Amino acid sequence: MSDKDDLYYKKTDKLIDFEFDEKVAAVFSDMIERSVPGYRSLISQLGGVAAMFVKSKTNIYDLGCSLGAASLSLAARLPGIQGAQLILVDRSKAMLDKCRSNLSNSELASVADYVCEDIRNIKINNASLVFLNFTLQFIEPNDRQTLIDKIFAALRPGGALILSEKIIFADKQENDLMLSLHYAFKKANGYSDLEISQKRSALENVLIPETGDKHKQRLAAAGFNSVTTWYQCLNFISVLAIK
Ligand SMILES: C[S@@+](CC[C@H](N)C(=O)[O-])C[C@H]1O[C@@H](n2cnc3c(N)ncnc32)[C@H](O)[C@@H]1O
Repeated sequence: MSDKDDLYYKKTDKLIDFEFDEKVAAVFSDMIERSVPGYRSLISQLGGVAAMFVKSKTNIYDLGCSLGAASLSLAARLPGIQGAQLILVDRSKAMLDKCRSNLSNSELASVADYVCEDIRNIKINNASLVFLNFTLQFIEPNDRQTLIDKIFAALRPGGALILSEKIIFADKQENDLMLSLHYAFKKANGYSDLEISQKRSALENVLIPETGDKHKQRLAAAGFNSVTTWYQCLNFISVLAIK
């Protein structure tokens, strides 16, 4: 059970860049549900989409796994995850420790490996499925194509990358509208104006969103055969890229 996210409730003069540390890990489930429109619905459907691609004797990667929500969704749809191996990677030890404890009572415990590393530095191979669920947005834009290329190279033919991201819109009017709707979503979920603005400042240099087209161009450039937006809620999308 997650604590309530009140990390930005009090006014602070010394805002530091957002980090996935112990404090964030403790409130993360509450934070992401109240901050990402459609998160719960996306997670509940994600497993069904992902299950279509898993093959036995392959690897499944959950990159930037946080508390393991994507993998747990898959396990709910595909008991035993078809004899595949699950590799959960996060560079935040606090997140990965919580993830391990979350999965310890699930059937995933026996097939899961946990890697505390930067996903840019790990080797990926023999993959039938890769989750990059709201993680690429935290990677330096200049490193994104290299990472996507690495994932593509590691996927078997017919394998899939599921990429979920916060996005911006090229059209200013549409972008402003989506930002207003996202703001209203957070207000409706109990965040104050101060909390929203302090968290936005903390994330400013850390979470760098791009347009949906930019993501799709990058996936196409890597060589993916099929690139489809299968989910969107306001300024958050999930793209299914099949090799
Ligand atoms: C928004 S959370 C991901 C949410 C999660 N995938 C889910 O489905 O609930 C982003 C996660 O990516 C991790 N992360 C960010 N950059 C990373 C990197 N370069 N290498 C490994 N993990 C990273 C963070 O520590 C954080 O746990």
